[in-house]
Amino acid sequence: MKVGFFQFRPLFGKPEQNCKKIVTALSDVDADLIVLPELALSGYYFKDKDETLTYAEDPDNSRNLDALSALAAQRNMHFVVGFSEKRGQQCYNSAALIGPNGIEHIYRKIHLFNEEKFCFDPGDIPFTVNEVNRMKIGIMICFDWAFPEAMRTLVAKGAQLICQPSNLVLTFCQETMLARSIENRVFIITANRYGEDKRPQGSLKFTGKSQLVAPGGALLHRAASQRDAVFITDINPVDADNKMITKHNDLFKDRRPEFYI
Ligand code: ACM
Repeated sequence: MKVGFFQFRPLFGKPEQNCKKIVTALSDVDADLIVLPELALSGYYFKDKDETLTYAEDPDNSRNLDALSALAAQRNMHFVVGFSEKRGQQCYNSAALIGPNGIEHIYRKIHLFNEEKFCFDPGDIPFTVNEVNRMKIGIMICFDWAFPEAMRTLVAKGAQLICQPSNLVLTFCQETMLARSIENRVFIITANRYGEDKRPQGSLKFTGKSQLVAPGGALLHRAASQRDAVFITDINPVDADNKMITKHNDLFKDRRPEFYI
């Protein structure tokens, strides 16, 4: 299964331009699944919910998401792409699984980071596992990394590959994902952005270093910090089905939930 990521620098408030950038960069890739950053169409650092809604996409009426669906059909592939999702006056920090027939699933970020709490409604859809060419994938977004329950839930539901669109500003996530992959024995793609959103309310710098981790915490690839990067590699998703960490320890069967809160 050919999987990977596209790391780039979305321009704030320029959804059409960002969409064109994605379509151009991926117009001739050969892959089953590519993961893109969080809020890849709109940029990140909104000042309030009204501004967030201005640059949001209604999935039922979005030329940008339609353009990504057309690319998925043309290349016979799937994307996981972060976007700002408008539903009436509700706005979610979402990620869509897009395939040749259009949007197959939308995940809405459950753990909002910092000022996102003033710009988005919290996610209201349970963590879900979807199939892409028989590979089982689970989606979480960026700051969900700080809640181990997010990935645990997806892997307990059968996910073999975690897709994590990100706009990371803290420096801990990339290393933390190595531990998550040891404790869950799962593939993880963190697709991060780079660059800076300079806004009247302040400035945020994003850390790049998108990466792909294999079950057991092996770092297969990490991109540079501040540069565009397309990375694709072949993985065998069933490698994630073996949960044995020693001959006598299954990381899921050995859990003792009666002792946990
Ligand atoms: C983040 O969740 N975008 C830090």
